[in-house]
Amino acid sequence: MATAAVHTAPEAPHATTRTVLVAGSSGFLGHHLLRHLRRRGDRVRRLVRREPRGPEEVRWDPAGGSLEPTALEGVDVVVNLGGASLGRLPWTPAYKEEILCSRVDGARVLAESAALAVTRHGRRVRFLQASGTDFYGDRGEQVLTEASGPGAGFLAEVCQQWEAATTPAADAGADVVLLRTSPALAPSGGAIAPLTTLIRLGLGGPIAGGRHWFPWITLADHVRAQLHLMDSALAGPVNLTAPGAARQGELVDALASAMHRPAVVHAPRWALALAGRDFADFLASSRRVEPRALLDDGFTFSHPDLAAAAPWVADRRREARR
Ligand SMILES: NC(=O)c1ccc[n+]([C@@H]2O[C@H](COP(=O)([O-])OP(=O)(O)OC[C@H]3O[C@@H](n4cnc5c(N)ncnc54)[C@H](OP(=O)(O)O)[C@@H]3O)[C@@H](O)[C@H]2O)c1
Repeated sequence: MATAAVHTAPEAPHATTRTVLVAGSSGFLGHHLLRHLRRRGDRVRRLVRREPRGPEEVRWDPAGGSLEPTALEGVDVVVNLGGASLGRLPWTPAYKEEILCSRVDGARVLAESAALAVTRHGRRVRFLQASGTDFYGDRGEQVLTEASGPGAGFLAEVCQQWEAATTPAADAGADVVLLRTSPALAPSGGAIAPLTTLIRLGLGGPIAGGRHWFPWITLADHVRAQLHLMDSALAGPVNLTAPGAARQGELVDALASAMHRPAVVHAPRWALALAGRDFADFLASSRRVEPRALLDDGFTFSHPDLAAAAPWVADRRREARR
């Protein structure tokens, strides 16, 4: 497997200032992306699902299919990170419907607007659309690149429909990048914060035996990869995952060791299934994902493997400096 150099330099102020429209900007990934966009001098426009509170905010209603017609005026890059939280349990049938529709509806509205910006106004628009490595389903030992086909299961199906909703933009000639994102590791917050919190409390351990491949990326690299993709010519699916693939047990051991905690509390699959079978699949599916497109595009990871990532995740003092 390819390895990448450790790169820790903060992003430099940008030569070309871009206008970037972000949906889902109040969330874990969006919040951090905004900070870094501002830091490198880009102009930020936020889509909000409530009354706008300032000139930076534009109202949209993804469920109702509406977006201010002027929302994409002057916009170079659209980033869609919106969708009902996967962290809210249980995933009842009604909530699963919300997980799906909140993603597909928002992606479709933005894709249609990006298509209009290209066809009606002749603008060049890059559209970065969130998706997940859940796209690949449960694939055992198979090495998965962007060329691999989709898998089965609820979240795999969500990702396929989510990505398909961007078709109007791609058909119109916008550069659509599908951010197939792994669970992002951070000192706090994010989709797998409950796992890191348990490890910090000495209550972590392997899930469902811990032998399955568990893709991951640090929040720092996720932000850097998005900034890279805004400037690159790459389009299509891109795996946002660290090159140092790990089994779930290895991930827990590395984090526990960096936090000076034991990792002995096993969580069997049947216990996860108490929160719903689809949620158990989310944590126990095996996905050995490679970031082939990013590496081929010259992206270097700050935290390419667990040896680099675990101390960064363990150090909560970093939160103030992120
Ligand atoms: N974090 C990860 O490790 C990870 C991994 C793989 C994929 N992803 C995907 O990347 C995206 C961003 O992740 P995240 O961790 O930042 O998620 P998050 O913290 O749950 O934030 C998602 C944002 O989406 C908006 N939102 C919430 N409910 C919504 C609804 N019903 N309809 C439309 N928008 C809604 C909210 O922003 P506003 O209130 O500003 O609209 C919310 O802050 C998600 O779609 C997630 O599935 C994340």
